Amino acid sequence: MAIKLEQVTKIYTTGEVETVALKDVTLSIEKGEVIVLLGPSGSGKSTLLNVCSGLDVPTSGKIQIDDDVISDMTSKQLTKFRRDNLGFIFQQYNLLQTLSVRENVEVGREVSLEPFTVEEVVEQVGLTPNIDKYPYQLSGGEQQRVSIARAVVKNPKIMFCDEPTGALDEDNAKEILGIIQKLNETYGTTVILITHNPAIGIMADRVIKLNSGEVVDDIKNKDKRPASEIVWGS
Ligand SMILES: Nc1ncnc2c1ncn2[C@@H]1O[C@H](COP(=O)(O)OP(=O)(O)OP(=O)(O)O)[C@@H](O)[C@H]1O
Ligand SMILES: [Mg+2]
Repeated sequence: MAIKLEQVTKIYTTGEVETVALKDVTLSIEKGEVIVLLGPSGSGKSTLLNVCSGLDVPTSGKIQIDDDVISDMTSKQLTKFRRDNLGFIFQQYNLLQTLSVRENVEVGREVSLEPFTVEEVVEQVGLTPNIDKYPYQLSGGEQQRVSIARAVVKNPKIMFCDEPTGALDEDNAKEILGIIQKLNETYGTTVILITHNPAIGIMADRVIKLNSGEVVDDIKNKDKRPASEIVWGS
C-alpha cells in the first residue's frame, strides 16, 4: 500500500506547554518501498509513524493510504483498518508470557483477512525448532523474531517498525533486519523502519531524515544492499 501525507502537523499540548512534534510534513511513500527513517531523539520519528498508522491522529493535514483517507476515519474505522492492513514491530517484544511461540503467533492471525499459516511464518523467522517454547525460554533476538512472526502472519500490507533492533546486539539485529527485508521482497510489503543507526540506510529504497518535526532529507538509495552487509556503527 502507498501512503500520502499532505501538510501534516501534530501538536501535543500538556498543560501550558505545546510541543510541535510534526510541522507541515508532505510526503509520499510508494507501495513496496523500504523507508528508513532517521533523526535525533525528539525529532518526531515515532510521531510520524504513529499518525501514518492511525495509532495517533494529526492536529491538521491529510493522511491517505491507497484510497482511504485515514485522517478522516472514526476511531472504530481506524481500528478495523489497522487490524486488516497494518503490522507493527517495536523495540519491546510485547509477547504474552503464558503462551508458546505457536500461540503468540496465532494471536496475530486470528482477526485477519488473508493470513498466512503459523507454521509458514515461524519457518520464515527461523524458529521452527522453538515453536513450542515459551518466551522466557528464548533469547532476546528469538523473542523479537516471534514478535515479527506475530506481525507478519496476518499478511499486512504495511509494516511499521519503531527501533525493532534497539535492544539487540549487532548479529541479532542484522538477522532481524534480514527477515524484514525478505518479507518486503517476498510479499511486496511496504516497510517503514525507524532507527538511530544511519548504517541501516543501505538496505532502504529511501532514507528520510527528520529534524524538529520537519523532513530535512529524503534521499533515494541507488545501491540497495542486503541487511547482512550493514557495517554496524559506520
Ligand atoms: N504523548 C505526547 N505528549 C506530549 N508530547 C509528546 C508526546 N509524544 C511525543 N511528544 C513530544 O513530541 C516530540 C517528538 O517525539 P517523538 O517521540 O516523535 O520523537 P522521536 O524522534 O521518536 O524520538 P526518539 O528517537 O527519542 O524515540 C518530542 O518533543 C516529544 O517530547
Ligand atoms: Mg521514537
